[in-house]
Amino acid sequence: MTLVVDHPVVADLLSRLRDTRTPPPAFRQVVAELSALIAYESLRDLGTGEETIDTPVAAGVSTVRVAETVLLVPVLRAGLGMIPAIQALLPLSEVAHIGLRRDEETLQPEVYLNRLPANLSGRRVVVCDPMLATGGSLAEAVALVKQHGAARVMALCLIASEPGLARFRRDHPEVAVACAAVDPGLDERGYIVPGLGDAGDRLYGPPD
Ligand code: PRP
Ligand code: URA
Repeated sequence: MTLVVDHPVVADLLSRLRDTRTPPPAFRQVVAELSALIAYESLRDLGTGEETIDTPVAAGVSTVRVAETVLLVPVLRAGLGMIPAIQALLPLSEVAHIGLRRDEETLQPEVYLNRLPANLSGRRVVVCDPMLATGGSLAEAVALVKQHGAARVMALCLIASEPGLARFRRDHPEVAVACAAVDPGLDERGYIVPGLGDAGDRLYGPPD
């Protein structure tokens, strides 16, 4: 299942995200706002519990609280930019990091960090990476999460490419992907077109 969040506010944020004139501080802010909106839309089935509270004008009011602890898995580096805003929405969430670097020649992902808990069985896992380009990095991240025993996995992105999404679907057909846009293709360097360029560099600057 792919959820493309279709809303004028998301479209406006996406336009600013793509725009070369958006400087890094504004880019980080837009990544945060879009991430929160996509998480909000895609986690409507979050587990809840009842709580009885007193308001200033009524006692014993039955209310609903989020009761599910989600494990957020950012794919470093760029996925990290999505996390603070999603954590703000989900105060019970926990975070475990995966580090992947896409080889510029082969476009294959290399794992350089895996801080996943040993046993993820029974956990709900939300993998976060703003860019799904060839789909290799997200497919690898989800494969790692599954190797640790997770059966309930979903992915949050900002922009996916059509071919990358098709490849991801072949590898992990049961994993839902939510994003703000699906772009038509990739250029010769494996960048999403029209995309937004290099998300990690726009968030944090060039790595070397
Ligand atoms: C980017 C992006 C994804 C990956 C997408 O990371 O954040 O993880 O590329 O490309 P793919 O779908 O073709 O695998 P990158 O490897 O550039 O690392 P960075 O986030 O540290 O900049
Ligand atoms: N990684 C990015 O940051 N952007 C792309 O378009 C492709 C891979």
